Amino acid sequence: TTIYLKDYSPFGFTVDDVHLTFDLSPSATRVTSRITFSPNPDAADHTFFLHGEELKLIRASIDGQPVTPDATDKGLTCNVPSSSFVWEAEVEIDPAGNTALEGLYMSNGMYCTQCEAEGFRKITYYPDRPDVMSTFTVRINGPEKVLLSNGNPTDQGEGFAEWHDPWPKPAYLFALVAGDLVNHPDRFTTKSGKEVELNIWVRPGDEGKCAFGMEALKKSMTWDEDVYGREYDLDVFNIVAVDDFNMGAMENKGLNIFNSSCVLASPETSTDDNFERIEAIIAHEYFHNWTGNRITCRDWFQLCLKEGLTVFRDAQFTSDMRSEPVKRIRDVIDLRGRQFPEDNGPLSHSVRPDSFVEINNFYTATVYEKGAEVIGMLKTLVGDDAYAKALDLYFERHDGDAATIEDWLAVFQDATGRDLSQFKRWYSQAGTPRVKVAEDWADGTYTLTLSQSTSPTPGQDNKQPQVIPVAVGLLGQNGDEVAQTRVLELTEKEQSFTFDGLSTKPVPSILRGFSAPVILDHDTTSAERAFLLSHDTDPFNRWEAGRSLARETLLAMITDGTAPSGAYLDGVQAVLRDDTLDPAYRALMLGLPGQSELATALHDGGTTPDPQAIWTATETLRQAQAQHMQDLLPRLHGEAQVSSPYQPDADQSGRRALGGAALSLITRLDGGALAASEYAKADNMTLQLSALGCLIKAGKGEAELQAFYDQWEDDRLVIDKWFGLQVSLADPEQTATVGRSLTQHPDFNWKNPNRFRAVFGALAMNHPGFHHASGTAYELLAAWLIRLDPVNPQTTARMCSAFQTWRRYDAARQDLIKVQLDRIAATPDLSRDVTEMITRIRGA
Ligand code: ARG
Ligand code: ZN
Repeated sequence: TTIYLKDYSPFGFTVDDVHLTFDLSPSATRVTSRITFSPNPDAADHTFFLHGEELKLIRASIDGQPVTPDATDKGLTCNVPSSSFVWEAEVEIDPAGNTALEGLYMSNGMYCTQCEAEGFRKITYYPDRPDVMSTFTVRINGPEKVLLSNGNPTDQGEGFAEWHDPWPKPAYLFALVAGDLVNHPDRFTTKSGKEVELNIWVRPGDEGKCAFGMEALKKSMTWDEDVYGREYDLDVFNIVAVDDFNMGAMENKGLNIFNSSCVLASPETSTDDNFERIEAIIAHEYFHNWTGNRITCRDWFQLCLKEGLTVFRDAQFTSDMRSEPVKRIRDVIDLRGRQFPEDNGPLSHSVRPDSFVEINNFYTATVYEKGAEVIGMLKTLVGDDAYAKALDLYFERHDGDAATIEDWLAVFQDATGRDLSQFKRWYSQAGTPRVKVAEDWADGTYTLTLSQSTSPTPGQDNKQPQVIPVAVGLLGQNGDEVAQTRVLELTEKEQSFTFDGLSTKPVPSILRGFSAPVILDHDTTSAERAFLLSHDTDPFNRWEAGRSLARETLLAMITDGTAPSGAYLDGVQAVLRDDTLDPAYRALMLGLPGQSELATALHDGGTTPDPQAIWTATETLRQAQAQHMQDLLPRLHGEAQVSSPYQPDADQSGRRALGGAALSLITRLDGGALAASEYAKADNMTLQLSALGCLIKAGKGEAELQAFYDQWEDDRLVIDKWFGLQVSLADPEQTATVGRSLTQHPDFNWKNPNRFRAVFGALAMNHPGFHHASGTAYELLAAWLIRLDPVNPQTTARMCSAFQTWRRYDAARQDLIKVQLDRIAATPDLSRDVTEMITRIRGA
């Protein structure tokens, strides 16, 4: 059944407090609840319905009198008194049999929970909706050494522990962990002098991989005090690492639970990118304490209220800790790689969707990343000071609330006096707007005419103009900036903006800093792009100039069979020679647009993309780059030689990124000689993996691949990399075969989401391999999705999006994919999660 935003109504009761007792046992845990309910004066309907799934009801009572509720597989109803009453229930659940990893489950012998979005109903009967908030008191009985829940510890002894969370919260923020864990402890003093005990809890053996995460946590706590004025509000903050987890991490109040891949780090086992991601995710979950927990969501349609804002905040944090332009460029690459295809295909939905079947299918790049872009635009439009004022008002006005996007926008309207009714379309209109640029130059006046349009998306045929902040600067013919960045507000379908007092026709730098998540259509010359590549003062747009030159030359190579453009090769080489530029930035300059992105660009231009041709052109351009920069490459590679001890900071990791990019080009010239010697001497995972990747790509490295496996056999997170690398770097002809043979490897523990994703995430990302004309990769993925669905619907459903771009390709490929979509759809007892995904992907 489809659930609609417009149907929202409050629950008929409020919850005054919740007492839970857990008697742990792997396949028969007893959960006893004692909950005080009162009629909710704001509600019209007073039906007493409690969610509950996969629960065995042992007994229930109201005010001490046994009752027999009417139960279905979705929950129960019961007659209740007309004033406050105490509900008690005892249920039995089976954590060990819970392979969906939702509710209370077991991972490597430890108990843990994942309740967002609707997992609490698999723990006990409860109004499992985010607008029902309560304090929680929890007692855990069990033989495990460590027994954790939300809030502050109130009592503990042999075989039990008690916790109390004084902050009212919705059930999705509930958490429980029990196991023989060890901790990496630390402390933090908040700016008002509150002492907080910090812990990262891990399985014995992983203690040595916690220090970096702990530093990231303390930095996040300080940053949120300094930048947003937000302090922590409990005596303890616990983080737990678990190996089996559907997503990255979860912001449960005072007890964040992390996929171990998103918290455990050491130089030997983690790459620089892993470190950066871990720092960002720790920050993200910590920042949720205010944007998510203290202020939560009224219903799941408001998910972007907490996720968009928290992603925006973690991006600000990363920019502050590291490099602002590098972070921005990486985020835009990610947005184009994941969100744009979603926004422009059958899964397209607005940042605040208005209906869903399974909410877990809406933890998407659109809600998260486009949601964060919307916050960024709001900040650009109102300015930094007004943004800060609005956020203060938001925290003051809505602390303790389950809020909506309307509440959020009202805060900005009240703080700034600005009418945001048109801006609100960013939340309701799906699809990526296109902004077309036309220029005019006459009598010292330069005119930019911008027009916007958004293609229809499922359920939305006609789009209204949106408010698009377009940051523009102008450069003179000599490369000087003649007009500093100014934010043009495009609100009409078409609008002109003039710049006066110029002596010569300027070169525009448009959409600086990627000021809006749009596709810019600017028919300009490669000479002008090359000019911006060497002169733009905006680092984002300077990079973007190189990117668009690369895209242009690749598209011409694919469609017209032309040779790689000299303007591109020379332009990039000049930037790479400039030692004054940050190595991380220069490494990004060497990157090429993704092959899937090129497929979209071809499709948009009216050409059916041929994945094999895109791959060939990309390989050819890479080879041309290597030859063109032959003399420069050893110097660039040398930058990676860091003599001081390994640090995963911006400086060192930037140098290694540039060195690694250079090594992959050098490998194209020397056949892998340098990479082999680099592999032999690598003493950190970044260098080891980059050298190994170069060797595999060169068709070498068989011995190293085996040595790598032998070295890291006992480290699950490193073995995930070993699986993933082989699939992502396989040649198109070999991809499905490599994937299939890895599924036969004894370590292919497919019920572990990280391992499943290592193989199949990589398969879907290997564009020419996944879209090989034989269709074998489609078939392989579909077979495994069908197998995983009964075990773990959530992870299966997420992986279905590999097929979302299918309509772009030729008829033969579409037919091959259609067969697989139909086959999945026809599987008996398919989960609600996957049914919804496949239905949407197949389209009407
Ligand atoms: N709120 C979590 C985060 O943003 C994501 C958890 C989502 N989990 C899920 N099963 N849908 O970090
Ligand atoms: Zn989040």
